[in-house]
Amino acid sequence: MPTAYKVQFGEPFRDQKPGTSGLRKSSKQFEQPHYLESFVEAIFRTLPGVQGGTLVLGGDGRYGNRRAIDVILRMGAAHGLRHVITTIDGILSTPAASNLIRKNNAIGAIILSASHNSGGPDGDFGVKINGSNGGPAPESLTNAIYSCTQNLEEYLIVDHLPISLKEVGKHSIGAMTIEVVDGVEDYISLMQKLFDLDKISSFIKEDFTIVFDALNAVTGPYAKRLLEDLLQAPSGTVRNSIPLEDFGGCHPDPNLTYAKDLADLLLKEQRYSFGAACDGDGDRNMILGRACFVNPSDSLAVLTANASCAPAYSSGLKGVARSMPTSAAVDVVAKQLDIPCFETPTGWKFFGNLLDSDRITLCGEESFGTGSNHVREKDGLWAVLFWLQILSVKQCSVVDLMSQHWRRFGRHYYSRHDYESIPTHIAHGLYEKFELMLPELIGTSFGGSSVQHADNFSYVDPVDSSVTNGQGLRVILQDGSRVVLRLSGTGTQGATIRVYLEQYAPPEANLNQNPQLALKDLIADFNSLSEITSLTGMVKPTVIT
Ligand code: G1P
Ligand code: ZN
Repeated sequence: MPTAYKVQFGEPFRDQKPGTSGLRKSSKQFEQPHYLESFVEAIFRTLPGVQGGTLVLGGDGRYGNRRAIDVILRMGAAHGLRHVITTIDGILSTPAASNLIRKNNAIGAIILSASHNSGGPDGDFGVKINGSNGGPAPESLTNAIYSCTQNLEEYLIVDHLPISLKEVGKHSIGAMTIEVVDGVEDYISLMQKLFDLDKISSFIKEDFTIVFDALNAVTGPYAKRLLEDLLQAPSGTVRNSIPLEDFGGCHPDPNLTYAKDLADLLLKEQRYSFGAACDGDGDRNMILGRACFVNPSDSLAVLTANASCAPAYSSGLKGVARSMPTSAAVDVVAKQLDIPCFETPTGWKFFGNLLDSDRITLCGEESFGTGSNHVREKDGLWAVLFWLQILSVKQCSVVDLMSQHWRRFGRHYYSRHDYESIPTHIAHGLYEKFELMLPELIGTSFGGSSVQHADNFSYVDPVDSSVTNGQGLRVILQDGSRVVLRLSGTGTQGATIRVYLEQYAPPEANLNQNPQLALKDLIADFNSLSEITSLTGMVKPTVIT
């Protein structure tokens, strides 16, 4: 057994507070001597079951992935882990990691990713911690990890040469075994259990053309295997399919701004019947049809309404959940299906208890995240297959499916305006000022209606009764419209303000307006009340979804 030795680094690092999905900082910060190591030390001191346990380890292939795997293996051996499951080239998507944890009864996973943030030496890096249920670590654990970093002065590590991740195989560092698996295979088997892939395959051969953009990130190898090998879509269907350390300079976030090439192919050139993209670590998805962008809130509603098209959900859904800023489109569907619908704070971890206690089957967020009880993370490629499954059963186009949906349930016009890289004090000042205004807004006219309710959202977990406060400012109008204001917890440069706008149009209304036009009164009233333009100095949002 190589001897574990202590590295003293003196004054502990004070800025290691994990956000909604772990510690996310610039690659440069992670390259400071002992920075990564001290955070990993705090994980190994805090995560239950490390002594003698099994850990899943991998990442989205970004710059820093390989070095972090080496460090974590050496530190894992020093801390008495029995077994580590990692993957070829260390490539492992977040949903695939969740599946590996569950399949192998692991104590959890360390996933190396900054999700949809850019990568490379000048981009971001991240360390996410998942627990034994397969989901993101609950706040109690990330808080404990954070407190641990506050007093750390040393960490334990062994010396060992890097383990080869070039092929499937078994290795060891002292008493700890390391299993290198094909990170794609188990995930594909899971998808085969959930969906009727033959049906999708026949459908896409009948003049229903598809394209997928992996944005040079983790989903490339998964999508190639699924779409081109199993579904037999033409070679080249998966674009940007090789995970690159800097994602080829692109921002691996599947939205209309950062996946513009794909959006142009579908919305402008209208070359394909269906298009989709996933983010850096494979948990987000964007769905496009020919000349049709599917809003993620609508996507959750459509999947819920048509869940029985997929074998995995043919016997019905226990319930559904959405994050608070996600539109209420799914609520309307749940009501008709007579199933419970939960509203949680932003962040996937809040769905965990609901999934574990079997209260829900599907869940989603407006931020291009959708998932189900098959894992404990949102799952980009799963959503793509689910959409294709529904279209293959209904034998219709995306635009037809959306129109049918709105004609039945009505449409929630929805948009999110992001103001990125704002100086932190300005963003916080704006937020605090707006919060103070909330009580006075009640009863006043707003966006063509009047304010019925205004608060800072807090959540009582129905399973363990834990309370989470301060989850975003809500202004709810008499006609059901809403404006929500939040500060992002995942940015690394300054602060990001997110404004979420929503208005319901019943089935008989005009359902084909441009959302920005349909929401223009809400937008104007919010902008003027919050003084967002003068306070931020930005005449328009950085990203409009
Ligand atoms: C963002 C999204 C949120 C998602 C999180 C992790 O967080 O808004 O829905 O769960 O990324 O993917 P935010 O930056 O808004 O805190
Ligand atoms: Zn992600």
